[in-house]
Amino acid sequence: MCGIVGYAGPQRASELLFAGLRTLEYRGYDSAGVATAAANGSISIQKRAGKLDNLQMALPLLPTDAIAGIAHTRWATHGEASDANAHPHSDESGGIALVHNGIIENFSELKRELEAAGHHFSSTTDTEVLVHLIESAYQGDLRAAIFAVLPRLRGQWAIAVMHKDEPGRIVAARKEAPLVIGIGDGEQFVASDPIAIAAHTRRIVFLRDGEVADLTKSGAQLFAADGSEVPLRIEEVTTSASTNEKGEYTHFMQKEMAEQPQSLRAAMLGRVTDGTVRIEELDAISANIAGIRSIEFVACGSAYNASLAAAALAERLFGIPARSSVASEFRYDPPALGPTTLVIAISQSGETADTLGAVRAARNASAPVIAIVNSEGSTLTRSADAVVLLRAGVEVSVAATKSFTSQALTALLIVLDLARRAGHLSASDAAGWSKELLEIPEMASSALTASEGMRAIAARFYGSEGFMFTSRGEGFATALEGALKLKELSYLHAEGIPAGEMKHGPISLLGPKHPVVAVVLNSHTLQKLVSNLMEARARLSPVIAVVSGVDEAGEFADETIMIPAARPEIAALIASIPLQRFAYEMALCAGASVDQPKNLAKSVTVE
Ligand code: G6P
Repeated sequence: MCGIVGYAGPQRASELLFAGLRTLEYRGYDSAGVATAAANGSISIQKRAGKLDNLQMALPLLPTDAIAGIAHTRWATHGEASDANAHPHSDESGGIALVHNGIIENFSELKRELEAAGHHFSSTTDTEVLVHLIESAYQGDLRAAIFAVLPRLRGQWAIAVMHKDEPGRIVAARKEAPLVIGIGDGEQFVASDPIAIAAHTRRIVFLRDGEVADLTKSGAQLFAADGSEVPLRIEEVTTSASTNEKGEYTHFMQKEMAEQPQSLRAAMLGRVTDGTVRIEELDAISANIAGIRSIEFVACGSAYNASLAAAALAERLFGIPARSSVASEFRYDPPALGPTTLVIAISQSGETADTLGAVRAARNASAPVIAIVNSEGSTLTRSADAVVLLRAGVEVSVAATKSFTSQALTALLIVLDLARRAGHLSASDAAGWSKELLEIPEMASSALTASEGMRAIAARFYGSEGFMFTSRGEGFATALEGALKLKELSYLHAEGIPAGEMKHGPISLLGPKHPVVAVVLNSHTLQKLVSNLMEARARLSPVIAVVSGVDEAGEFADETIMIPAARPEIAALIASIPLQRFAYEMALCAGASVDQPKNLAKSVTVE
């Protein structure tokens, strides 16, 4: 992953770049660094392991009269999180500074070759080979050197590079990792995400794979992979970093959980009206709908969990195979794909490398692709036939909360609209759905209130050996998401097991120190689930249940959080809200970093 920002112009580069890094911390926070170039070409670098605050203390050590600079925030792939492995990287003479997001897959062989030729490495990163390769290829023109090096690389990259002999110039390149340039007046920018430079310019060029950008303060040029110059495709973006305020909350996660009534309402605005579901953005693929023979959801992490209930609904309504796949598996071992396979990719960031890889596999097979995305202007929005935005607003906390519920809801809306268009959903069924869908924001509010009870439950069960999350049917996706939230936030072991599977092995973990967290919905498998919970209690496991539409929960649970009654697909979505709160409270008990859990990043742009 990692975040990159670069600047050529008259403003104080180190401070501008540092402010940009703040907005990119969601891409990783293992280390950070800034390199600045003076008018005489000399390059100064400050970099520190750990979060950005560590780097901030070193900023005064950088010159104040720099004419350009590049900066980086890292999510470690190759090499531990240390000062030496932090970017920017440099060659032995200090003449080059380079930042990189991605992985150079053939770095070992390149490193062996470079070491044999006398280069000395000062880090254990894959990235450092780039610096030495550019140093070897450099003959007075940084862009030419980069073009000479790129064909030797395997992997993914977004890079920004400066050379001491060309003061004020930044050359950037991308392949399968996001990179934009920002066009200013007498100043130019480069960044992983427009948000990093939104305070200075909204005039953005999204680089395409293989392209190279060449910037100085007075202008920017763009080159295709074959070296020919291509016109700047300037787009005006509306991205703003200004919504990134915690307000009255201690953590962004708290704020984002609380925003769910609004974010869920926003997802439905203009889409659920007049007793039906109609998503205008799907008109773009209306010609494909009648011919669809299978539906494949692809996503990673929480977005994958968000797809499961929609896939089950699609299969039921359409009567054709529909399923969800983890994108990292799908991209290399896809199912049979073709023009009659509808692929629906879900991603908050729109930059997840595996999800983008799965979409490429689908498009190569001529499968129509719908993208469900939160981040406007992200790569995924430019890779699909139809794009349905979540409208959840910026999500800062690494753990997905409001984006998860909006993804689950939007996926359901898409399935309902497609089924209606294909003649698989009657007008009266559509009306029944819409009526209940419109109640979701209210249900989310009441689930937030009920979630208050999770504080005491977390205090009671913090210190348990592990947690088994369980349910059946639609509730199972919620159980998986609940387990994922708990793991990522509190570093406790948790897993999601379908209730009927517990007896086939996982039950041996159960006992007084291993609670079961159950999602209990009023569905046709309710009695079966209750029996499984009784089996857990017979092994003395405490049962914590989030319950919708079922009375007398005290008969099968030790602790209950009651949420509104609704059909299982909707109740499952609402049930995730108390489980988010459970994970949040457990993270507080653990003293963990709520918004930036260790080892994670919000946008995962490596495989
Ligand atoms: C990372 C995040 C997860 C997220 C996943 C997919 O692992 O930490 O919270 O679910 O990426 O992200 P996406 O942006 O594709 O939804």
